Amino acid sequence: MVKKICCIGAGYVGGPTMAKIAEKCPHIDVTVVDINEARIAAWQSENLPVYEPGLLECVKVARGRNLFFSTEVDEKIAAADIVFISVNTPTKTYGVGAGKASDLKWVEACARQIAKVSTSDKIIVEKSTLPVRTAETIRKIIVGSENENSMQVLSNPEFLAEGTAMADLENPDRVLIGGETTPEGQAALKALVEVYANWVPRERILTTNLWSSELSKLTANAFLAQRVSSINAISALCEETEADVDEVAHAIGTDSRIGSKFLKASIGFGGSCFQKDIYNLVYLCESFGLPEVAAYWEQVIIMNDHQKYRFAQRIVKSLFGTVSSKRIAVLGFAFKKDTNDTRESSAIYVCQYLLTELAELAIYDPKVPASQIYRDLGLDENGKDAEGRSLVTICDSAEEACEGAHALAVMTEWDAFKIDQLDYKKIYGSMEKPAFAFDGRNILELDKLREIGFEASGIGKP
Ligand code: UDX
Ligand code: UDX
Repeated sequence: MVKKICCIGAGYVGGPTMAKIAEKCPHIDVTVVDINEARIAAWQSENLPVYEPGLLECVKVARGRNLFFSTEVDEKIAAADIVFISVNTPTKTYGVGAGKASDLKWVEACARQIAKVSTSDKIIVEKSTLPVRTAETIRKIIVGSENENSMQVLSNPEFLAEGTAMADLENPDRVLIGGETTPEGQAALKALVEVYANWVPRERILTTNLWSSELSKLTANAFLAQRVSSINAISALCEETEADVDEVAHAIGTDSRIGSKFLKASIGFGGSCFQKDIYNLVYLCESFGLPEVAAYWEQVIIMNDHQKYRFAQRIVKSLFGTVSSKRIAVLGFAFKKDTNDTRESSAIYVCQYLLTELAELAIYDPKVPASQIYRDLGLDENGKDAEGRSLVTICDSAEEACEGAHALAVMTEWDAFKIDQLDYKKIYGSMEKPAFAFDGRNILELDKLREIGFEASGIGKP
């Protein structure tokens, strides 16, 4: 019977996932540990480090009851029956596999730490997205240690999407758990199934072998990203042919074999997972001698980069070939709505492109702090670039950002930017003329903007 869970990594995945487990399993003590003291302090406050609708409410139900946040990593690992590894696994920036392979140094460090401090049997669960066969590495590190206890490694990838994480955790399409086929592996698997069965119907808890589970996570993200790149590819063609990409998406999405989700054309996908996981897959294929398979998946990223470039380029072209010294209002900076996460956000690329063209950017995002935007754009804490220029202003509202601007560009589909939420007439009045509107998320009705007087364009829209 599982009594204590420890999760290493209090990030976007570890925090919300453990909060939900604690809420649903009052009989299990759940502690989330992290080496980052400020992050742990924030988890203990009203001001959580992760913005996610419904998260604070969920944390409040369990915090102090059976949900704890701590920096005492060794002690909490030692006490746990199950240890989740939920640390970050960024794309390697150095050495072999740079730019593609996952950097597993944090995961390896966790495995070594678990091996060092454990004095009882444990189930180790990979929650981080990892290359296939990482469980073997973890196991080798642990078996190679002096520790005599029994350790089982399970793979339990996370499928939550930011912005809807709490709903995804409450009511998942499926929970996937991979384990070894040995009796010990199966017993560990059963123990984790029992935890989820406290609120997830049994038929939605899928169990597989370890390698299928690891590969399924990469495959799921690759398929999702591929859909976005596919519709974005079609959006480029729509712009040449006067077809409307939203109409095409609806028409194909009503075919039940295709389905309607993940067909929204955009400035390109962002987020911490899609690009990293596809590169991961590409690297795996290359290292197993499958170059054609690798090239097939890499094209999803090439298409995504092209989509970001097309959007940025269109802004410059439309503004008569130069944006130098022109104010451009950037509405939204997060990689999608309802999150404060900016990792791999397409807005970063587009802004950087415009900055190299010496545009003056007025950026507003309802949840992303100025310090984060400066960091993402490679500016100092006062928003200055390496040459001491201040080309970026962070604004407190969309209206403020648009004042005096030559163009506005929607980068994130926040509801607050919709046509009935903002006074676009007033905004138009405050802008330089001709006033351009570039909707990178297709959330604005272009005909209404055009009626007001805007030179308006969307993605894949006539
Ligand atoms: C997760 C997954 O782990 C990643 O593999 C997946 O692809 C995306 O989601 P996420 O929760 O978003 O990552 O990462 P992040 O918000 O960066 O949180 C990771 C936390 O782990 C950080 O707070 C970091 O301080 C902590 N950490 C890292 C440790 O506590 N110990 C370490 O050794 C390394
Ligand atoms: C994704 C997966 O959905 C989730 O299952 C996995 O665990 C982590 O990675 P996340 O990155 O949080 O989740 O968000 P997601 O909703 O998948 O969106 C990713 C990106 O694709 C965003 O930038 C989003 O704006 C974009 N997107 C999504 C589109 O451009 N069009 C779409 O139709 C859907």
